[in-house]
Amino acid sequence: MTQFRTIKGTHDILPIDTKLWLKIASEIREIMFQYGYAEIRTPAIENTELFIRGIGLDTDIVNKEMFSWTDQGGKALTLKPELTAPVARAYIQHQLGSNNPMHRLCYFDSLFRRERPQKGRQRQFYQFGAEAIGSQHSEQDAEIIAMAFNIYKYYNIKDISIRINSIGSAKERPSYLKLLRDSIANMIQEFCNTCQSRMKNNALRMFDCKNNNCQILLEDNAPYIYDSISTDNRKHFELVLKLLDKMKIPYSHDKKLVRGLDYYSHTTFEITSSSLGAQNALCGGGRYNGLIEKIGGKSTPAVGFAAGFERLLMQINKEKHLDYSPDIYIVTIGTDGSIEASLIAEKLRTECNQTVVIETLRRSMKAQMREANRCSAKYVIILGESELSEKKVVVKKMDSGDQKLIPLDKIINFFS
Ligand code: HAM
Repeated sequence: MTQFRTIKGTHDILPIDTKLWLKIASEIREIMFQYGYAEIRTPAIENTELFIRGIGLDTDIVNKEMFSWTDQGGKALTLKPELTAPVARAYIQHQLGSNNPMHRLCYFDSLFRRERPQKGRQRQFYQFGAEAIGSQHSEQDAEIIAMAFNIYKYYNIKDISIRINSIGSAKERPSYLKLLRDSIANMIQEFCNTCQSRMKNNALRMFDCKNNNCQILLEDNAPYIYDSISTDNRKHFELVLKLLDKMKIPYSHDKKLVRGLDYYSHTTFEITSSSLGAQNALCGGGRYNGLIEKIGGKSTPAVGFAAGFERLLMQINKEKHLDYSPDIYIVTIGTDGSIEASLIAEKLRTECNQTVVIETLRRSMKAQMREANRCSAKYVIILGESELSEKKVVVKKMDSGDQKLIPLDKIINFFS
């Protein structure tokens, strides 16, 4: 018989991993809530057109990575490859802007991109992130960067660096792109095939090319977009940097940083880790003042970030964050003992907030003690036949080996 397996680039998350997942996901949420962000959840599927218009037709995501199909009713649908466009769509659809000029939204969700799977790169992956919609000012950019940075700081992630740039406004783009194309037109044959096609459709992305030769050609001949942005936009960016300096957040200004999605304007940033290997981007984001208008809303400034959850998990010291051990393991014998154990366990969970595991395999006392040791229970409650007849239990503290005989009706007091 055929055995079914996960689809390439997707993974099961087994119980041994979910505890850590849930703990970290909830800690990240708490950090984002601290900054005043509220969680938004959007559907897994959206109209394909949302991403074409939002992210841009000439981006890698839209061009080759989306899981898209036409449904039975002839609708073009896509499994969401990112969350900024869906959040902007929800913002417009629910007219959030009309009840409050400022919205701080955060998310933790599963996304889909048909990329070539490798370490740190899946076809289904999780992102956490935030979108601040309403403010055009530098302090909002700084808040977003600080929040992302503080999440990595909270987990004591070393070897990270923040690169930041400003790519100015969409209005300034055409004249810069002309300058860029003109400066390298006579040497375009020397660039790789990808750059040659990007030169026509998405010339800014040539700065993202991994080919060393292309990078040297650009360095020697091409103007940086940052050097052509207006004085006002430069001031906006300088204030972002000043705020980061004041908050003691380390960064480097990288004039080559352009990001791979078309909606960006002004500030762009990326947080990378030198210990992650080829897929070293932990987090990316920036300002996207034109997106909401582009997908049918009123012109609204916005800035955000999104971060790969699996990539953060790869960096976290799991030992330090994991404690699977139950507070209490109840060792019991016989049917009456099992019934009593179930009742005591319920009370300890609900009234004393303890993590309690009971024996349901009806193994020997010796095997149950072995299991309690294996899962590193902090206490064992022994409920044997003699204890049951005396309406008492033995409570054993596993690290010291100390044990006490306690009346059954005092067990809640003992653990309270
Ligand atoms: P992005 O750079 O495409 O930006 O993705 C953000 C992060 O998601 C990356 O830095 C990486 O950690 C993670 N990531 C991306 N693709 C994969 C993959 N195939 N497997 C595992 N992790 C992956 C965005 O998505 C923008 N929406 C960010 C944003 C929010 N900009 C403004 N607001």
